[in-house]
Amino acid sequence: MCGIVGAVAERPVNKILVEGLKRLEYRGYDSAGVALLDGNTLKTVKAVGKVVNLESALEQSGVSGHTGIAHTRWATHGSVTEANAHPHVSSGQLALVHNGIIENHVSLRAALKGDGYEFLSDTDTEVMVHLIHQLRQQHKTLLASVQAAVKQFEGAFGTVVFDKDNSNEIIVARSGSPLVIGLGLGENFIASDQLALLPVTRSFIFLEEGDVARITRDTVEIFDADGNAVEREVVESNITQDASGKGDYRHYMLKEIYEQPLAVRNTLEGRLNNDRVAIDAFGDSAQQIFKDVKHVQIIACGTSYHSGMVARYWLEQFAGVSCNVEIASEFRYRQSFVHEKSLLVTISQSGETADTLAALRLAKQQGYMASMTICNVPGSSLVRESDLAFMTKAGAEIGVASTKAFTTQLVGLLMLTASIAQEKGLDQSAIVNAIKVLPAKLEETLQLADSIAELAEEFADKQHSLFLGRGSQYPIAMEGALKLKEISYIHAEAYAAGELKHGPLALIDADMPIIVVAPNNELLEKLKSNVEEVRARGGIIYVFADKDSHFESDNTMRVINVNHTDDIIAPIVYTLPLQLLSYYVAVIKGTDVDQPRNLAKSVTVE
Ligand code: G6P
Repeated sequence: MCGIVGAVAERPVNKILVEGLKRLEYRGYDSAGVALLDGNTLKTVKAVGKVVNLESALEQSGVSGHTGIAHTRWATHGSVTEANAHPHVSSGQLALVHNGIIENHVSLRAALKGDGYEFLSDTDTEVMVHLIHQLRQQHKTLLASVQAAVKQFEGAFGTVVFDKDNSNEIIVARSGSPLVIGLGLGENFIASDQLALLPVTRSFIFLEEGDVARITRDTVEIFDADGNAVEREVVESNITQDASGKGDYRHYMLKEIYEQPLAVRNTLEGRLNNDRVAIDAFGDSAQQIFKDVKHVQIIACGTSYHSGMVARYWLEQFAGVSCNVEIASEFRYRQSFVHEKSLLVTISQSGETADTLAALRLAKQQGYMASMTICNVPGSSLVRESDLAFMTKAGAEIGVASTKAFTTQLVGLLMLTASIAQEKGLDQSAIVNAIKVLPAKLEETLQLADSIAELAEEFADKQHSLFLGRGSQYPIAMEGALKLKEISYIHAEAYAAGELKHGPLALIDADMPIIVVAPNNELLEKLKSNVEEVRARGGIIYVFADKDSHFESDNTMRVINVNHTDDIIAPIVYTLPLQLLSYYVAVIKGTDVDQPRNLAKSVTVE
């Protein structure tokens, strides 16, 4: 979480830093700050709230510089105040920004205070800048001081620091929080995400765990955790800049909802050969692993966890392998059982979620046959640290509430299911045939937007809601509930419809809308009985149903008909109306759709 941008250039970097922060704002947006070397003076400007507040404060201040660092914050230690916003400064000499958490900050703070350092914030980060400043007295260079300091930090960090007496140098260090160097001509940059730097460069170096680097206008020197000079590959980014803009859409989330047919097409492109999945989409050694695998252990967080839950239904039904799905923050802190020939699969939009990454690292020591990630960000930590990777091609997702990343994850998981089935000699043609028509089905489904927008009016004054589904639609109900709570702040719960009478039925009254996902499948009649149980108790029901499911709208039931779709891809298709419902409810309620309160896109702290 939080976003970092830094630059050393011959030209003033104010605008580059602010534009970079705006592009990173989805990662954290409660306060922001910048430190610039203005002549020989180190100056900071900070503002509570969004980056636009910082932008105007910076303009008003008249501060400008050719070397600078900037940060947009998602508070962990210390409340949302200017004092707690980064950059933090030590003795007017060093300025530092940080993503992550320094877990031993209490003991470091006590020691530094004992040595006379005065703390101006409640953050864990401030210990970093003071410790580096203290070590600076013993080491010849800032680089050496940072290398010495990082050995004392416990926790996770991506950090950038500069010294006011060296106008042409920034030092960066990565441990647990990603950093990418952007290369320019006579100028170089640093950011926590390449998106921040797309207006100024396409050439990137992704730092690896433990790397410390010295960046000047003309040079980049990188050292690994042992202090050895290392070369890291320069990668040319093919992300289109447009992906970072909203176009004519009112919100990123709406744009991303509408991009789903294309995102799915891109994810499928070149990966289906006639009636088979091209297994090399998962990596070179995938074929043998898929032949041998007997069990799949899925680990993820948030929306990505829901895609894993859908995959369990697919893998067990179509690929004949058992499957467990677990939230990463639970998995990593318990003694779990490793099944024979078990493949570990992480799912993540960002590839940087701290708990998922920690779970992968733990699992790699536990005897899984291989690890695989389904991920949307090339070069991310999960991709680099997994044996196999399936890249979803959703393009940059900016809205905090995940939409196109989720549906493309489901495509990846369906292709995984088909691939394992294929290698085990099972018939997977039904899956492949269903996937082929998916983009067109999604396009049809988006045409429901207007009727869903009307329906949303009825939710605006509601405090609570209940989502119901059965089978592979149960996780879709969970995802629908998560979307609604994330962006509209309406309390939303999801239940497997069969569980209704084991508790939630007690909550039903006319003020509690019940949203039901009801494709026409073998569970439909069971689901209809559940719906009647709700109606008998005065609940108002909103059903997303296949035309052939024969639900009729009346004074206690609103029916939105979804075109008939193959049950295999129905979880993906039914996701879209629920995304649209949350979106329109949030718009009516006037919440901040793309940057909902208290949340962040990429959760790089535990
Ligand atoms: C945050 C985001 C969610 C996302 C979750 C997992 O909570 O707001 O949209 O699903 O993190 O992130 P990942 O990048 O691992 O999919």
